[in-house]
Order: sequence, then structure tokens, then C-alpha cells
Amino acid sequence: MNARFEPAGPLRGRLRVPADKSISHRAAIVAAMASEPVRIRNYLAASDTRSTLAAVRELGSIVQEGPEELLIRGVGLRHAQIPPARIDVGNAGTLMRLLPGWLAMQQGNSFKLDGDESIRRRPVDRIAEPLELMGAGIEAREGRFPPFTVHGAPLLGIEYSLPVASAQVKSCVLLAGLATDRTTVIEPVPTRDHTERLLLWAGAPLEREGDAVAGFRTSVGNADELELEEISVPGDLSSAAFLIAAGVLVSGSRLVLEDVGVNWTRAGFLRILQRMGAIVLGDVEPVGSFGPAEPVSDLDVSHGPIEGTTVEPAEVPLAIDELPLVALLGCFAEGETVVRGAGELRVKESDRIATVVDGLRGLGAEIEASADGFVVRGTGGLRGGRLHAHGDHRLALLGAVAGLASADGVEVVGIEAAEVSYPAFASDLEALLS
Ligand code: S3P
Repeated sequence: MNARFEPAGPLRGRLRVPADKSISHRAAIVAAMASEPVRIRNYLAASDTRSTLAAVRELGSIVQEGPEELLIRGVGLRHAQIPPARIDVGNAGTLMRLLPGWLAMQQGNSFKLDGDESIRRRPVDRIAEPLELMGAGIEAREGRFPPFTVHGAPLLGIEYSLPVASAQVKSCVLLAGLATDRTTVIEPVPTRDHTERLLLWAGAPLEREGDAVAGFRTSVGNADELELEEISVPGDLSSAAFLIAAGVLVSGSRLVLEDVGVNWTRAGFLRILQRMGAIVLGDVEPVGSFGPAEPVSDLDVSHGPIEGTTVEPAEVPLAIDELPLVALLGCFAEGETVVRGAGELRVKESDRIATVVDGLRGLGAEIEASADGFVVRGTGGLRGGRLHAHGDHRLALLGAVAGLASADGVEVVGIEAAEVSYPAFASDLEALLS
């Protein structure tokens, strides 16, 4: 399905963006691992997070969906049931990489996971390696792709240095670590810490040492059960980012996005915007903070001129899903915008270096790909044209925002990909434009 996004008048008003996708996946998985029922407020209603609910149901949890909240009656840490068929993760990389951490501790039981065409191109060797070191068995297609099988086993504690800065891999190891005496994950640069916060919230024995510059060592120990009654999911900064970019780029805009999650390990995009000179006001969590809570704030966005910036490798994991938007903003900025050390973009829902560079170039951008990032020369605007989403939700939404800020409008080919994280995007946009 195609959709056209015409050059827009100003975006104005207040809006609540959809619930955080990363936290929703984790909330459902941790609730399924808990022994007592867990209420989840503001769970994301989108196809990715529906896959997670279906998966935890298959594993024996009861999920009751009410109008305001979900109730999940989990099965407890070590009692996941064997599903009748493969667990279908759909398009959800986070589900695919976190769930095996729990499955690995289900001694003597095996679980097969598979997903859509895009997920079958995404590597799982990054979780297979640590889980195998802990004693679980993983069999994957060609040793590294879905479909794959997790064979649960008694697990040994490990000290694991992340070879790639990935919150998904860290989370997988920490979940599995709950069935070991002590497991430590060492990250050279920080990545999002929603799993750690949720485990603390659930009373798990978790400690973190280090700092935002030197990196963190996070350890978990053996847990008999997880106990939490309620989880409240904040608005998704990664979804808000599309409207923030639109507000910054479209002349005359002023919008307020309410109750957005502003955990500092997710807020790299806001710090990049600040360097670019954009006007985005909010109460973002100070760098280095940690605790069980997920902070929220309203974000107040105004249109204004921006200048180019350089995003260095250490900053990449804290803005990983927003880097396509940094490329778009770079087109409108004065000077050059450079992103380095972002090779991980190549293994997202699409190869986001190739698809962003080709997509924006097709709209008139002066942008070059490098092996691990891109360089954009700001020209003050974008002509417009057609952009292919390649089945990638963040590409579809990037095209939409590009259209609003362009001279001639943008036709997005495959707009339905947006369903993965932000099904109400078109109506939210309409509300801000009217
Ligand atoms: C996510 C972590 C990131 C991110 C993805 C969601 C998570 O992936 O790109 O959209 O919820 O942990 P990596 O950890 O693989 O970088």
C-alpha cells in the first residue's frame, strides 16, 4: 500500500504518542516469568508487541486484555510450557533475542522460534554464543539465522563482554542469568537499560557498577521468583522522534508530546538535536541515572533552524533507532552531518545504511554511505519523490516526515510497515495538522 505525504502546514497541538515498544516487549516477557498476576498499563497495541503476547500465551501464560490495561498471569521462572508449534516472533527482533534468555533455563525442554521474511535475515548467533557458554543448546539455520531451536538446560554463570553494543543481547544474558549463581554482562558503551530497571522493579538481585563513560558491569544472581504487581509503560521516544523531527523541520510548528519516556539511555536523539540547535524542551533524565523507575516528561517542540553535527560511535547505541531521522535532519541543516560507528544499522529490519541513503538520495538529498554510517551535506531542503519502506517501519515513517518537510511531497511505498510500532501515525498527524 502506498501513501502520499504532502508538504504540510504547521504541526500544532498536544498529543500522546504510542507506548514504548522496547518496554512493552519486556513487560510482557517479565510478567510471563512472574508467579503472581501482573497488570500492565499502556501496553503498545501494534503488531510487534502483539507477537509477544501471542508468544507468552503459547508458553502457558494467560493474557486478559482490558480497555485500559492488560493482566498477565505468568507461569513462573522455570515452568514455561512447551508450545504446540513454533513460536512465531513475526517481525520482532527484540522478542526473538530476549525470549531465548528465559527459554534457556527451561531444563530438558526445547522451543523452536521463527518469524517473517525480514526476521529470517537477522542474526541470532549473537545470543547463541553466550547462551551456549552458559550451557544451553542453540541450533540455528546456517548457524546464525532463524528458524532456530533453544534447548533449555541447567545454566552456569558467566562473565560476558558484549562484542556488539546491543541491549537485546545484554537483556537475553541477564534474563538467563536469573537461573545462575552470578552472571555479569560488561558493556564498553552504554545501551538502553529497560531490562535492568524492570528486573529491579521485580525484586531480582541485580547490581550495576561503572559509569556512562567507562561503561557498565551489570550482574544478576539466582532468583526463585519475580514479584511485581504493576508496570506502567511510558510513551515511546522512538515514535515521538518522528513527530519531533516533523516539528523541527516544518515551518511554524509548535507541538507538545505528552508523557514520553526520557530514560537517558534512550535519549541520545534529544542530545543530538540539542547540538544541532533544535528547540526541544523537556525534563530528560540526567546521564548516568539508574533505578527501577522509567522517567517520563512532556516534550515541547518548536520549528527552527538547525546545523550539522557529528554522531560518534559511543553515542550510537543511545540513538540507534533514530539515526535515520538524523540523516533527514542533516538534509535541512547548515553544514555537514556525519554518523560513524553505526554498522549495527545494517542488521536492523532493513540494512538501514543502504535503505536510508538510497531512500533520501531518491528524494534529492546529498548523502553518501560509509561502511558504518553516512555523511549528509545539508542543502536546506529536500525535493521529494518516492521512498520505498522495504518492509521497515522506521523507513516508512521516515518517508512520511520527509514528505511533510519536502518541496513536492513524498509517496511512501509500503506504508503498512508502520503498523509494527505506530499504527495511528496517520491520524495523529492529521490531528496535529488540523
Ligand atoms: C532494542 C534494542 C536495539 C534497537 C531495537 C530495540 C531493544 O537493538 O535497535 O529497536 O528493545 O532492546 P540492539 O540491541 O540489537 O542494538
